Amino acid sequence: MFINFWYPIIRSEDLSTKSPEKVMVLGTNLVAFRSQAGQAHVLSDTCVHRGASLGGPWSAGEHTPRIVNDCIVCPYHGWEFDGEGHCQNIPSVGYGNKVNARAKVDSYPVQEKYGIIFAFLGDLPAEERPPLLDIEEYEQEGWRANQVLVLDVDYYYERSIENALDPAHNEFVHPSHGFTAINRDTYRVNDYKTEDNQQGWGMWFMHKFNAPPLNPKVWEEIRTESGALWAGGGTYGPNTVITHINIQPTAGFRQYFFEQPISENKTRIFFLNMRNIMLNTKHDGPIHARNKAIAKQDIDILEALHPTLTPISNTKEVLMPADKAVIAYRKWLNKFDEAGWRINLKEFRRIHGKDKAFAIPCPARKNSKNWVIEAIPLVKKRTRNKLSKAS
Ligand code: FES
Ligand SMILES: [Fe+2]
Repeated sequence: MFINFWYPIIRSEDLSTKSPEKVMVLGTNLVAFRSQAGQAHVLSDTCVHRGASLGGPWSAGEHTPRIVNDCIVCPYHGWEFDGEGHCQNIPSVGYGNKVNARAKVDSYPVQEKYGIIFAFLGDLPAEERPPLLDIEEYEQEGWRANQVLVLDVDYYYERSIENALDPAHNEFVHPSHGFTAINRDTYRVNDYKTEDNQQGWGMWFMHKFNAPPLNPKVWEEIRTESGALWAGGGTYGPNTVITHINIQPTAGFRQYFFEQPISENKTRIFFLNMRNIMLNTKHDGPIHARNKAIAKQDIDILEALHPTLTPISNTKEVLMPADKAVIAYRKWLNKFDEAGWRINLKEFRRIHGKDKAFAIPCPARKNSKNWVIEAIPLVKKRTRNKLSKAS
């Protein structure tokens, strides 16, 4: 898990101005809330007074709002934190009185886009941050987006990303993909090349997938020409994967998995499906249902993978040319390692939540002091060893 990228926090439709929502990302608790004007904020969830959860259970009853004057109210002693994470009121010393300079929590930059609230979880200044992925076709004429689908899965996010980069699993995991009975005499995965994603921060590949003609009962408007289709995609940062399925040369689906790493074995996937075919809204439901059913087939396999995390060395697996895309993704993870952005999970696991809580450092830590909660431990420039030359 890495700091210094944009992470999905919650769907726009799931955050109201009435109550905050607590979420765990990168092993730490965060709280999201909206101002009266609708501006979303994301803060570290641990109150610096005596450790209550800002987004946690609330006993005061409905007559006492949880968000007052665009501040979130701590449910324990009522301290009020604004969207910048600064405490504005400490009731025990009297409302409106001076507040201790240490009474602040981390506040993360937020962007609301594609129906999702994203937070930049890290301390890089604005000009050094990897940008949020740009989806060029979003809200463009001729394209339609499904409602963002949320998938909760019990495995590590890197395993999920790698699965989306794997052209060798379809015939085995998805009965509706490719040839149902594999032709042992001719079957093989076609060769493909990997390159860098045009937006940077990741890799890209396209692969010619041998598939039977589409079933006209399911795909009423669509015909494939040759029984082959091009599919592939790439990664962006550690936690976003893009899949293009070109049913026809310029028509098909573009799918975006914005992944929220919760812990070492839990991930919440925000799945945005774009299409420039079957634009009629009557297809929304069936496409949604189909995406869910296919995701379930992957989930069943991925929940049983060992080890839970991706191995630190590629020599701990037997990788094939069809795994080139996975290797290319791991090379990008190496770059993030080299930048010093990887969370030291061993250290984190050993201490966090015992006699110490950690927070993801926010950009304000670069120019102000007096932070009560310690920044999450990072690995100092780790590099994977023995990367395969397959790509
Ligand atoms: S613990 Fe939050 S106000 Fe006391
Ligand atoms: Fe799959």
